[in-house]
Amino acid sequence: MSKLNRSWILRRRPHGALRPGDLELVESELEPLKEGEVRIRTVFQSVDPTNRIWISDMDAYMPPVEVGEPVRAYGLGIVVESRHEVFSVGDRVNTGLAHWALYNTQPGDALFGKLPDIPGVPLTAYAGPLGPTGMTAYFGLIELGRPQPGETLVVSAAAGAVGSMVGQIGKIKGCRVVGIAGGAEKCRWLIDVAGLDAAIDYKNEDVGDALDRHCPNGIDINFENVGGPIMDAVLGRLNHFARMPLCGLISMYNATEPVPGPYNFAQLLMKSVTLRGFIGSEFIDRFPEGVQAMTEWLVADRIKYEVDIVEGLESLPTAFERLFTGKNLGKVLVQVSAED
Ligand SMILES: NC(=O)c1ccc[n+]([C@@H]2O[C@H](COP(=O)([O-])OP(=O)(O)OC[C@H]3O[C@@H](n4cnc5c(N)ncnc54)[C@H](OP(=O)(O)O)[C@@H]3O)[C@@H](O)[C@H]2O)c1
Repeated sequence: MSKLNRSWILRRRPHGALRPGDLELVESELEPLKEGEVRIRTVFQSVDPTNRIWISDMDAYMPPVEVGEPVRAYGLGIVVESRHEVFSVGDRVNTGLAHWALYNTQPGDALFGKLPDIPGVPLTAYAGPLGPTGMTAYFGLIELGRPQPGETLVVSAAAGAVGSMVGQIGKIKGCRVVGIAGGAEKCRWLIDVAGLDAAIDYKNEDVGDALDRHCPNGIDINFENVGGPIMDAVLGRLNHFARMPLCGLISMYNATEPVPGPYNFAQLLMKSVTLRGFIGSEFIDRFPEGVQAMTEWLVADRIKYEVDIVEGLESLPTAFERLFTGKNLGKVLVQVSAED
């Protein structure tokens, strides 16, 4: 095994979109493992919008990554050294909160156990439907959206990692589901593959007009991933007692000035709406329940998922940019090393 690690270090807080020089890929010597630790070689690095939050200094749900530190992230990998009784070389694991790096060293007790090897379920599924994004979709929709058969659910960033799961869970729960996404290809995927009732291409049509057409009975649940004008258009069409799990506001993460709005905020009052911001990890104790449900749907082919894989740890900033330009369909991953 190589004794050298490679990790992405935060060199400067980004102003707006990530720029060359904000991050640097550096090599460092690996320390010998301590008792109870496990060394994991990253196979797939998860690339998430929240990495943008973590490398900023905004008041957020976790402390910021400090300048000079490796960027916080999770990944899927293989144990290459272990001094922990539960884990052995060759085990496949989720790294938990670690770093954008070739190797991560974690206390074995902090890991979530070994990833099961289920026929027909590839490793990538543990970053998609069976991973943190899948669990965010599952618990955000089921617990906070409380979908009922016949209700209308609208989800933004609908062809992304979280949104694509939300839409399909909504269909399984009997909702009319309308997805909002950028571009004809994503909208086709939402209808033809994910089986949604309607898709709105916000880059090429007026979202308000399209919502009026596709939501003739108003909107009962808004699973919000984006914020900005898209969210405003949805707010103006919510039904009485609508629920709004607020999962993300990606349209704001690169903002360099305070973002005005939402202009239809008063509708939350007028329609007695329940808006609930949440972080998926608040349901972490119940993840096994969510993984079980999602595994059953995945194996039964009731849930489809896509991965957007970019090759090589050095490509991480390119992969990250895909989230903010909407180039990705499904979960963005960087393949850092081979699966075997
Ligand atoms: N609360 C939690 O625990 C939690 C956990 C995971 C993710 N999230 C949030 O969920 C959202 C989706 O995350 P994800 O990991 O699933 O990423 P994703 O949806 O796979 O990728 C991000 C997508 O956002 C859309 N987007 C980017 N900039 C936009 C803009 N200015 N206006 C409208 N759409 C824009 C793009 O899709 P289009 O091509 O459709 O524009 C892009 O593909 C993010 O807001 C993220 O922060 C929250």
